[in-house]
Amino acid sequence: MNYGGSFYELKNQHLTPEENSALFKDKMILQYLLEQTRQAAARQLDRQENLSPGRRIEDIPLEDLPDQGWGTEIVLRHFEDQFASKIANTAGPRYFGFVTGGSTPASIAGDWIVSALDQNSAGSNDGIAPQMERQTIHFLKQLFHLDEKYFGSFVTGATMSNFVGLATARQWIGEQRGIDFSMDGLSDAEKVIVLSGTPHSSIYKSLSMLGLGRNSVVKIDTLPDREALDINHLERHLKEAPGPVIVVANAGTVNTVDFDDLEAIGKLKKRVPFWMHVDAAFGGYAACSPKYAHLLNGINHADSITIDAHKWLNVPYDSAMQFTRHQVTQGKVFQNQAAYLGGNDLGPDYLHYTPENSRRFRALPAWFTLMAYGRSGYREIVNRNCALARLLADLLDASSLFNLLSPVRMNVVCFTVNRKDVTMASIQRFLNRVRDDGRAMFTPTLYKGTPAIRAAISNWKTEENDILIAYNALEEVYQNTAEFL
Ligand SMILES: Cc1ncc(COP(=O)(O)O)c(C=O)c1O
Repeated sequence: MNYGGSFYELKNQHLTPEENSALFKDKMILQYLLEQTRQAAARQLDRQENLSPGRRIEDIPLEDLPDQGWGTEIVLRHFEDQFASKIANTAGPRYFGFVTGGSTPASIAGDWIVSALDQNSAGSNDGIAPQMERQTIHFLKQLFHLDEKYFGSFVTGATMSNFVGLATARQWIGEQRGIDFSMDGLSDAEKVIVLSGTPHSSIYKSLSMLGLGRNSVVKIDTLPDREALDINHLERHLKEAPGPVIVVANAGTVNTVDFDDLEAIGKLKKRVPFWMHVDAAFGGYAACSPKYAHLLNGINHADSITIDAHKWLNVPYDSAMQFTRHQVTQGKVFQNQAAYLGGNDLGPDYLHYTPENSRRFRALPAWFTLMAYGRSGYREIVNRNCALARLLADLLDASSLFNLLSPVRMNVVCFTVNRKDVTMASIQRFLNRVRDDGRAMFTPTLYKGTPAIRAAISNWKTEENDILIAYNALEEVYQNTAEFL
C-alpha cells in the first residue's frame, strides 16, 4: 500500500503492535514524508538567506536516545523547531572562508536522488551507478582539459584525493626500489622524499596517514613575492636526491591562488624520474575560463591530480575527484579481494582503486550539475567569482584601513588590517566580530609571516551586492572595534 497521509492519520487506523511501529508507519507514508521533507528544505532555504554565514554554537545539552522512535514527521518538526535556525549559511553567497562552494539547484536534485535511491557505486554489479561515474569523470576530464588516458574516480574530498595520489606515488617509489609497499609494508622502506613549494596542509595529513611522515616534506624555495616554487631550486634537489622522489606541485595555493610552472616541472621528468602529483583542488577550475586556462599549462604531465567537487563545482559535501595515469599501480594499493565479493581480478570496479569499498553515488550530483549548466555555466561562475574577487580587492586597496598582500590572481583576496601591531590573535578577534556581525564570514591566515585575512569567492550565488555588503561589514566592524583589537 502506498499511503500518502500523515503519521497522525495512521493513528486512527486499526494496526497490529508491529504495524504500530514508527518504522512501519514511515514506510506506509513515505510519499507524504518526502513531500514534507521537500517543504521543510524549501522553508529552510528561504530562512537561510537571513542566517549568518558563520555561527559559533556552544555545546548543546545532550539528549538520551529515545526507546520508542518518534517517526520521521515528528523528528522533522523537532529539527525545524530546535535546530534549523542555528544552521550557519556556509552555502550562502557571503561565506568567504576556506574555499567553500554552495550547491547548484541541479546538484541538490542529484544529491536528493542519491540519498533516496541509496546506490552502491563500488562495482560492476551495482547497476548504472559506476557507469554514470565513468561518464561524469569523462565530462570532468573534458572540463579540465585532461588527457583522456587518465583514470578518474570520486572520493570524499581533496584531502582524500591527495591521499590516493600520494599512496599510489609511494607504491611507485617502492617499485623503483624493488619493494612492494602494499604487500610488505614500510618496515624496510627507506625514507621517501616529498618536494614541494607551498604544500596544502592536507598533504602533511595524507603523509601522516600513509606512514611516510609529515617530516618527509622538503620545502623548495618559492619565487620572490610568490607562493610558486623556484624551478631551479627544485631541479637542484632532484639531481641530489638518492632516487626517485615525489613532487607535489600546486595549482592554486590557498592564500594567493598561485600556480607552480607545471610545464617546466613536467619537462624535468624527462631528465630525472619522479612522481608528479598536482594539487589542483580548486585551481583546476582555471580550465573553465579562457582567461585563466593557461595557468594549468603542463598539467597533463602529472602522474596524479586532485580536484575538489564540493568547492568550485558547487555540489554538496562530500565530493572530490582523483585522476591517475597509473591505474594498475593504484589498484595494487587499494585492491580489495575477497571470495564473497565474487571475481578474482581487479576488473573495472572502483572499490579496487579507491579507499572506500562501499561507495556513495557521488558522481550523480556532479553529473546533474554538469548536464544542467554545461561548460558555459562553469565558465560564467568562474569568471564572475574572479571578477568579484578583484572588486573586493579594489575596495580594500582604496581604503586606508586595509592592505592587500598579493595581487588577485583568481578568486582569493589576501589582505590584512593596516596597523603595525597586528598579530594572529588580533586578526582572530577582529574576524570573530565580523562573524558575529553576521553579514559575511572570512577566515584568517598567515601570509609570508604576516597575520592576514582571506576571502575565497567560489559560490555560484555570490553577486556584486554581496561584495559591497561584505566590504561594508569589514569597514564598519573595524572602525567600531579597532581600539579593542
Ligand atoms: C589546495 C587544496 N588542497 C586540498 C584541500 C583539502 O580539501 P578538502 O577539505 O576537500 O579535503 C584544500 C581545501 O581548501 C585546498 O584548497
